[in-house]
Amino acid sequence: MSEIKREVLENSNNINGSSNSIQEKVVIGSEVFVPMLKEEVLQERIRDLGKQISNDYRNKVPVFIGVLNGAFLFLADLIKNVNIDCEIDFFKLSSYGDEKISSGKVKMLKELNCDVNGRDIIIVEDIVDSGLSIKFIEDLIAPHNPASMRVVSLLVKPNSLRYNVKIDYIGFDIPSKFVIGYGLDYAQKYRNLRSIYVLSE
Ligand code: IMP
Ligand code: MG
Repeated sequence: MSEIKREVLENSNNINGSSNSIQEKVVIGSEVFVPMLKEEVLQERIRDLGKQISNDYRNKVPVFIGVLNGAFLFLADLIKNVNIDCEIDFFKLSSYGDEKISSGKVKMLKELNCDVNGRDIIIVEDIVDSGLSIKFIEDLIAPHNPASMRVVSLLVKPNSLRYNVKIDYIGFDIPSKFVIGYGLDYAQKYRNLRSIYVLSE
């Protein structure tokens, strides 16, 4: 098992956000992850997304469909910032295995429980990389006649997109580098980090 070390660096200001907050460096074996998006930067953007979605769906009752496991924290924080009635459900997909590179295959591990017919669907993703997972989900939902279907993703790697998908609400565009934290895993771990960290070169 890889050894994990979390270093606390105080008063460093090499990333977005306030300069005086505590930051960690996450060392996993020989790999070092450094902060990319701090907790407060994430939360501020999520507040804006919540407001925007609430405005766009006024007088509607959208169904937020979170893509497990990665999107669970984002979905939770997002709907806390949505001030209209809404429902939630989850899909569970698996594509990465324990690797840093997508297997290129998507497996469905949990189906939806709600009836999407006539509903306004908002698919909630943690990160869109190639776009394969979103394409897979859209192709599953579309035949069931939703009233509308949009996608919100906290992160998008625009240079990695290989499928023709439209991401309607984007938290942050990021470079095509491997990131962990705030729901995003590396071999199922590190989802509990409050900020997002990127693999440093
Ligand atoms: P896609 O199907 O290639 O768009 O990949 C999307 C899924 O892969 C996301 O929902 C994540 O679960 C996972 N993923 C993509 N990039 C990363 C990353 O940098 N770190 C952790 N998981 C990732
Ligand atoms: Mg995911």
